[in-house]
Amino acid sequence: MAERLLLTQRPAWMALQAHAARIQKVHLRELFAADPQRGTRLTAEAAGIYLDYSKNRLTDETLQLLFALAEQCDLRGRIEAMFRGEKINITENRAVLHTALRAPREAVIVVDGQNVVPEVHAVLDAMSAFVEQIHSQQWKGFTGRPIRNIVNIGIGGSDLGPVMAYEALRFYARRDLNFRFLSNVDGTDFAETVRDLDPAETLFIVCSKTFTTLETMTNAATARQWLLAALKDPASVARHFVAVSTNAAEVTKFGIDPANMFGFWDWVGGRYSMDSAVGLATMLAIGPQRFRELLAGFHAIDEHFRTAPFSHNLPVLMGLIGLWYGCFFGAETVAVLPYEQYLKRFPAYLQQLTMESNGKRVTLSGVDVDYPTGRIYWGEPGTNGQHSFYQLIHQGTQLIPCDFIAFGQSLHPLGRHHDLLIANVFAQAEALAFGKTADEVRADGVPEWLVPHKTFPGNRPSNLLLLEKLTPFALGTLVALYEHIVFTQGVVWDINSFDQWGVELGKVLAAKITPELEAPTEPDLKHDSSTNALIRRYRRYKWSAPPP
Ligand code: F6P
Repeated sequence: MAERLLLTQRPAWMALQAHAARIQKVHLRELFAADPQRGTRLTAEAAGIYLDYSKNRLTDETLQLLFALAEQCDLRGRIEAMFRGEKINITENRAVLHTALRAPREAVIVVDGQNVVPEVHAVLDAMSAFVEQIHSQQWKGFTGRPIRNIVNIGIGGSDLGPVMAYEALRFYARRDLNFRFLSNVDGTDFAETVRDLDPAETLFIVCSKTFTTLETMTNAATARQWLLAALKDPASVARHFVAVSTNAAEVTKFGIDPANMFGFWDWVGGRYSMDSAVGLATMLAIGPQRFRELLAGFHAIDEHFRTAPFSHNLPVLMGLIGLWYGCFFGAETVAVLPYEQYLKRFPAYLQQLTMESNGKRVTLSGVDVDYPTGRIYWGEPGTNGQHSFYQLIHQGTQLIPCDFIAFGQSLHPLGRHHDLLIANVFAQAEALAFGKTADEVRADGVPEWLVPHKTFPGNRPSNLLLLEKLTPFALGTLVALYEHIVFTQGVVWDINSFDQWGVELGKVLAAKITPELEAPTEPDLKHDSSTNALIRRYRRYKWSAPPP
């Protein structure tokens, strides 16, 4: 185990600080000019992902220093500790074993003296059997009609993974089933989700690790009322609701037959759960075989992360490069820009994965950090974003490193569409890196007063991930890649990437405010003056609304 120093006291950190002062003055144009092989040399490939990281503001020395930092932070040992099932989520005293969810049947991973892999496969087998029943229409609704609509009720990790995967793999999804994802406690979400659905043909998956989450339980209760209003018989609940949860007692209390509960374990974090039973909607959409291909993609990157040397290790490279910009260039955000329409929810998915994991301000030992940690992830598919926010990335005052994601083959090869799409992603990365100098602008005959406006500074870094084709396997590799990027950064930052205490306070306060909004007469309000005034104004609006 490496000596436990504060990050900023580690020799590699201090060396990186001095080095960064030099690199900040170097332009990517110079780096490329100095090394004609840079564009092929600074690349790495694993499990079908080709990573071009050459358009980053770094040299071989930078990489060596970053690898040294990772070594000094015992990244290798921490990776092993995670894969072995050690309780590295120390604030919740839990193992962190999403990697076990995609381990092959014969693997052995022991938690609290028990091999968890057989349980994982037992749940996968139960999910497959259930999916076959729905697909074959052996499972019927209470009135004998087949299930045609699947509504996943969940939020956070119990929603973002399933909805992202459904959208990403829609090409492979059954079109005879209609999938909806209900998450927000806003009644509009419920109303719009079910408005054209027939209760007799609708199956709800109540997806919640805890089975206590306010939004999910509120939506599930409303869904049960909606069903019962149509089918009239409480016995219908068992045919129209299944659960995904770790909390069998609450599932039973809700009225769901425990035989129709698909379990997972406390060592799976919500935002790391899309490949557990939380993926039931995904499996219903793409079928058990393709779900296993998705898991195989995850597993391929797990193996790569665990075994590849840092210099060829995709998550390590991307994690350290991201940290380089966050800690030494003041970059506060990362744009994730998939040039694949099916990945339109991928940035939203990554927001929870990255920001709930690494949005932390104390180290594992509870000391305030004195360096920036988790960055803001955001993005939209290309080329749409190009006509919206790319202006700021090209010519604004902030440094926004970009991750571009593209595929060699389109799932819908239509005329020139794919070539046009890919030409754009390559062009964007090129334009960001090299820009257009004032002299180049002048050479176009641009009048002098307009030159500064038309100049592109360049030197704006990006990674480009190029895969052959969007398949379930490929999606698994991409998600696992980002999971392990988060891990790599969390280890170096010495934070706990696996708890989320920051979401609790708002929940507690909302529970206090709710009865204050609902009370028929104004209660004695004891908040700050702003919150009190807002509650009073809301109550005025609420009570003045005409009855629905
Ligand atoms: O409030 C945050 C959170 O706890 C997330 O971490 C989690 O993914 C989400 O809520 C949903 O939790 P559950 O699956 O228990 O309903």
